[in-house]
Amino acid sequence: MIYRVLVVDDEELIRTSLRKVLTSEGYEVQCEGTGRAGVEAMSNFRPHIAILDLKLPDASGFQVMGQLFERDSSLQVIVITAHGDIQAAVTAMKAGASDFLKKPYDLEEIVLAVRSAARNVSREAQLSFYREKDQESFRRTLLIGDSPKMGEVNALIDKVSRSNATTVLIQGESGTGKELVARALHYRSDRAGFPFMEVNCSSFQEALLENELFGHEKGAFTGAAGLKKGLVELSDLGTLFLDEVGDMPATTQSKLLRFIDNRAFKRVGGHEDITVDIRIIAATNVVLERAIETGAFRKDLYYRLQVVSIDLPPLRERGEDVLLLARHFMQVFSREFRKEMVEISAETEELLQAYPWPGNVRELKNLLERVVLLEDSPVLLAEHLPEPMRRPARRSRLAPAEGEAILTLEEVEDRYIMDVMQLFDGNKSRASRVLGMSRQGLIERLKRMERTGRPKLSKEMSYQIS
Ligand SMILES: Nc1ncnc2c1ncn2[C@@H]1O[C@H](COP(=O)(O)OP(=O)(O)OP(=O)(O)O)[C@@H](O)[C@H]1O
Ligand SMILES: [Mg+2]
Repeated sequence: MIYRVLVVDDEELIRTSLRKVLTSEGYEVQCEGTGRAGVEAMSNFRPHIAILDLKLPDASGFQVMGQLFERDSSLQVIVITAHGDIQAAVTAMKAGASDFLKKPYDLEEIVLAVRSAARNVSREAQLSFYREKDQESFRRTLLIGDSPKMGEVNALIDKVSRSNATTVLIQGESGTGKELVARALHYRSDRAGFPFMEVNCSSFQEALLENELFGHEKGAFTGAAGLKKGLVELSDLGTLFLDEVGDMPATTQSKLLRFIDNRAFKRVGGHEDITVDIRIIAATNVVLERAIETGAFRKDLYYRLQVVSIDLPPLRERGEDVLLLARHFMQVFSREFRKEMVEISAETEELLQAYPWPGNVRELKNLLERVVLLEDSPVLLAEHLPEPMRRPARRSRLAPAEGEAILTLEEVEDRYIMDVMQLFDGNKSRASRVLGMSRQGLIERLKRMERTGRPKLSKEMSYQIS
């Protein structure tokens, strides 16, 4: 990339020497003698870097600098100040200059300053490139799936993202793509240029979650040294994603409800109402109706949230999408790991479709990542699949195979629990949710298995139980 450098200086001699040295360094250079010509060059020359003498005949250097920034806020400006004028240098830096040189300077100094400015240009260009690429790729994110159920989901996402719905509820088992849907909703809406903020409601204690959501005023509590803006405020004009909303503590639920009703909130310890325009997307993999019955979730909040609701079907109800997704992930990971797995054997296709996928798309994705990484075959074969998936499709996968001992019900449960633990890399919160037991209950059960030595655990299957 060739950087364009604009020189604005009224001394002919300086212009000539800068042109010569910078051109020989590989920059494209344009020199102007007045502030006005310098500002004009912003549209015809479009420089990345400007070297600006603060003492110009026709205008104040600061005014010119302001006009340059008005035309391109990412311009890197190196100012030249008169000998001993520290104050001007400080003012210039505060006004956004990236560097300053005092007269008299030598050419070596100028070259170094321009080089470092060029590094800033490329860093900023990269950042905005990634920002845009990020947005662009999300805008195009289609949830992969041709099944009628996913067709409905995709159509709904398009409709909701363009609507002015301010609350959306996404429900679905673990790993069905709730987070992906939340992002798609944001990036396909006209909120896309504004923040997408997310918070996992199960990973904070009550007071901390409130603080995270609504922020606090300086001195609101011991340790609140400064003002902190919360996510509700920070996501203004954008989207706030409340993941695992079913785990939100009761008092936070009522504060959230009040916010949804009024579109305004107070920071913790604050008196002033702050109004924001955000869309709240809440996700849950517990059935909220059940949580309402037990009193763990507020009914009125549920009704507010579910005005627009998107239900993600489990993978086992998506028919041939399993194969479509498998091929997709195979491609993704083949590219990533420089492998060439491209096909799926007929037998494997049947096994993939027969398996119930308790961990849904995440489980399928993890499986393909592992297989593509470990195997060098161009075809995905049945032998690449984990043991439980290889059992013949038409028989219950937990029934004993020929020659295998018959297990007690409890032993079957133990094995299943360990399979699910493995699926979630030992994450007990997730595993317990899928298994439909409390986290504490799961821990007790694991402890018991450890005590009785059942089922025999392989090394990678023995999770820390604590
Ligand atoms: N339809 C899909 N097409 C492509 N990738 C998908 C699809 N659905 C899910 N994924 C991928 O599967 C993984 C799990 O999805 P995601 O994290 O959105 O699930 P989730 O429902 O939020 O799970 P959890 O309840 O455990 O938080 C992600 O890597 C996601 O990109
Ligand atoms: Mg999630």
